[in-house]
Amino acid sequence: MGICASKQKGTGGGGKVAPAKRDVDQGSARTDSWTSSVREKGEFTALQLKSAVKVVVVVRPLLGFEKAKGASECVEVPSTTVVQLPPRRGTSSDPFRFDFDRVYKMNNPGRQMFAEVVQPLLCHFIQGFNTTVFAYGQTGSGKTFAMGTMGRQLSTSGESDGIISRSMRFVFDRMKDIRQQYDVSLKISFVEIHQDDVQDLLGDGENYAPIHVRENPERGTYLENASEILVHSMDETAHLLEAANLHRAVGAHNLNEHSSRSHAICTLQMEQRLRPGAASGPDAPRFLRSKLHLVDLAGSERAKETGTTGQQFAEGVNINKGLLALGNVIGALTEGAGRKHIPYRDSKLTRILQDSLGGNSETLMVACVSPAASNFEPTLSTLRYAARARSIHNRVKQNNKITSEEEIAYLRAELEEKTALVVKLQSQLDMAASMMKGSVSPDNIKLVMPGRSPSALAGVTSTRASFTGSGAF
Ligand SMILES: Nc1ncnc2c1ncn2[C@@H]1O[C@H](COP(=O)(O)OP(=O)(O)OP(=O)(O)O)[C@@H](O)[C@H]1O
Ligand SMILES: [Mg+2]
Repeated sequence: MGICASKQKGTGGGGKVAPAKRDVDQGSARTDSWTSSVREKGEFTALQLKSAVKVVVVVRPLLGFEKAKGASECVEVPSTTVVQLPPRRGTSSDPFRFDFDRVYKMNNPGRQMFAEVVQPLLCHFIQGFNTTVFAYGQTGSGKTFAMGTMGRQLSTSGESDGIISRSMRFVFDRMKDIRQQYDVSLKISFVEIHQDDVQDLLGDGENYAPIHVRENPERGTYLENASEILVHSMDETAHLLEAANLHRAVGAHNLNEHSSRSHAICTLQMEQRLRPGAASGPDAPRFLRSKLHLVDLAGSERAKETGTTGQQFAEGVNINKGLLALGNVIGALTEGAGRKHIPYRDSKLTRILQDSLGGNSETLMVACVSPAASNFEPTLSTLRYAARARSIHNRVKQNNKITSEEEIAYLRAELEEKTALVVKLQSQLDMAASMMKGSVSPDNIKLVMPGRSPSALAGVTSTRASFTGSGAF
């Protein structure tokens, strides 16, 4: 049975995503070649897949300040996969109509959205595929609320939980099953891109080297010098993330009291190694490595509407620059086969998300919009980009390769563990032999049960260096 198959019952999601439809606004056909075996049964059969970026839309309710101004709504959701805007005022054109994988218009879509579209992705993450969930939309549209990095959303649990804490809980919940067959390490990092600078939200803030975006064949793109903390439980992770989140740049402006002034990227890296002698099928991979990016982007903003000046104005300019680069990457990726150059290098944001857009990652975009008629233009623009993103095809492969250095380091750790066990058993034998000779009283004997020593699992608890994989098991 697949790792994720055992607990998918009763979630309402069952690993299924609404069937792909034709993008009405874009007119482009969409293909999606996830094999049913991987998608629904969660088994290790497909090693390479072509996957279209999935897009869901979340329409938040009108907020108090919008109601107080007498705002009217302009976003209609005629079905669970369609969202519609009326023609522009004074024109007689058709309404703007878009198809997506799913559209949510409700107060707290968290639970349902997680079950329907996030959980299936996490099953693939656990099976060794890179995955990304990123929230996109104008300022104040609900991205931080949806990802769940607002206030105490990360360490408490309830209906308004966001994608990050639900995802972490899901992964830790699956650990019990996975650990019956695999040694597992989970490492977390949390950075923000503020004023075009990558900053470590998990660092101690002192003497750290600048963070660079690097690339290598095993890891894809990664952040050199970012803290990577080995985590063991949901509680530990929630508190770590919440403490880190306090350092994130947030400010108030006309459209949002708690506006994110930076793009935040939380990454969970998982490595799994089949235990020697584990009861597993012949196809079970010996090694799996995957990363999960959970991204809360800052929203696009117009200074005229946000009323920002000084530092906040400069932040807004940088936010918009990063988002423009993201838009250009989405544009280039969807321009068709003729386009060779994709401008990933135009911003740090697009460099970090290089795998997620057009690369080795299964990706879900959560496009957030406000229902207010006063936000018609930014909402239309978000929906257009989101519709475009649906025709990006990523090539997702199961990451099951291990370098020879990693293999050697792991075998060395195994050997040390076995040697320690032999030493322990030997000393027990010596004690028993002495007791039989009458030189040791049975009261002085402390039995040591042979078993797996935790030493090989301990590894490095926190590292600012690049991810080496091996020592972390
Ligand atoms: N689905 C929802 N249900 C109820 N309230 C919501 C929902 N989504 C967002 N809100 C509220 O809307 C406001 C703005 O949300 P949020 O801060 O998440 O926006 P944002 O897109 O992250 O904006 P920015 O780009 O400025 O950071 C918050 O007060 C939040 O509580
Ligand atoms: Mg935000």
